[in-house]
Amino acid sequence: MISLENLAFLNIFYYNLSMKVINLAKRFNHSLKRFLFTTSVHVQSKIICNPAKSLFGSKVFRNDFSEIDGFDNIRNPHGAFWDSQKQAAEIYGAKKSFYLYNGSTSGIVASMLAVLKDGDRVLLPRNVHISVIQGLILSGAIPEWFMPEKDDKWDLFSGVMADDVSDLLREHGDIKALILTSPTYEGKKSDIAGIANLCHEHGVVLIVDEAHGALWNFSPELPFTAIEEGADVSIQSLHKNASALNQGAILHVSHHSMVEDEKIQQALNLVNTTSPSFPILASVEGAVSFLSSSKGRKKFNCVIEESFSMIQKLESIDGIEILKNDDVTKLFVSVRGLSGYELSDILFEKFRIEDELCNSKGVLFIFGSGTEKNKFERLYRALKSISSKSYSSMNQASSNEYILPEMKLPPRKAFFSKGRKVRKEESAGLISKETVTFYPPGIAVLVPGEKISREHIKMIEKDYIEVVDE
Ligand SMILES: Cc1ncc(COP(=O)(O)O)c(C=O)c1O
Repeated sequence: MISLENLAFLNIFYYNLSMKVINLAKRFNHSLKRFLFTTSVHVQSKIICNPAKSLFGSKVFRNDFSEIDGFDNIRNPHGAFWDSQKQAAEIYGAKKSFYLYNGSTSGIVASMLAVLKDGDRVLLPRNVHISVIQGLILSGAIPEWFMPEKDDKWDLFSGVMADDVSDLLREHGDIKALILTSPTYEGKKSDIAGIANLCHEHGVVLIVDEAHGALWNFSPELPFTAIEEGADVSIQSLHKNASALNQGAILHVSHHSMVEDEKIQQALNLVNTTSPSFPILASVEGAVSFLSSSKGRKKFNCVIEESFSMIQKLESIDGIEILKNDDVTKLFVSVRGLSGYELSDILFEKFRIEDELCNSKGVLFIFGSGTEKNKFERLYRALKSISSKSYSSMNQASSNEYILPEMKLPPRKAFFSKGRKVRKEESAGLISKETVTFYPPGIAVLVPGEKISREHIKMIEKDYIEVVDE
């Protein structure tokens, strides 16, 4: 494990993001001599009778700026946003970084729109997030699906290795892009370096959905990021575990990217609101600034040390098993005799501990830059206490089974076709017009254009499904 002295030494090689956007807002607040008759009207109003004010205080309203004079415009930045994003790119070793205010979802969809046009082929593992399916519908790209390896012991997808895609890239000479989820929700990394080499040999763009790897840039105890390993574009949700406000995320374009960053900006402008949230953007800058500061790195190093030490203690307890993953800020645990669903219920009902997700085998906990020592202790004591009882599951929980259905129509075509609703029992053999997912983790069971089978019907929870009216 890295010591604080080593960490301080490493600091020399780190950049630090000075808060251009937040400082501009502070200056604006202090030297306020103007009277705004602009949107957002609440910025200078007293917001009397606003129930949200009593919940959040008035500061959040007073700092919810739109593009008033002297402020920058994130859709076409030249001032504070430009400088701030430029510094962020240096921190991440990227050619260009874009602050996102509509989640990684907007970055994933935009990177697809920047690279893929109607009819282009894109190679996809079946465990992509639903935002990729939104990108397929909007771009008109045609998916070439493959099933990544599944770890049945844990009922989870593993990372994708170069060998898993080398034949596919050779066989499908017309692939434009490959999109991978790395890490997975549970912290399994793909071989991005090996896959990036293969992709580039074949002239294929590699986009990495790194939504769950937003902290990887900030600790030597965590894996290399997708940008460091040669991906063309990566997208990270800073709101998930790096303390930005919900929807705060970041997109990076690498120095040797096959994707032009102007194309990314254009595509982002296509999918984003024209009224970006200043509080979200300021929180993205604040998160990167904190994590890249020596104070932030020390704090985060403590979180990592706590996590390592808790995992070590848990591993010595009979009846507790922990998934071996690539990210110590994600803990996937099983307790003998309990399904993940049962473990999750006990944790919540008896200990008021809420997990991120669970499956037939275990439960996932997420730690982040702000996870406190007492929370680790609470979780440890709860798991220890549960494991000391003897359980035997009443019902064998069934695993999430994913199948690769037959694609009858491209997703976009199916989405815009005439549809009708049918009872799910009567849908076998018909073509889905909907995306059906398990959520979380947001992985598709059915994508628009796919043929519904009897196996799907068992997985669909609702009574009716919309099918293409052929
Ligand atoms: C793997 C993965 N990618 C992308 C997303 C979308 O991220 P966001 O909520 O920031 O839009 C999620 C959200 O849960 C996710 O799990």
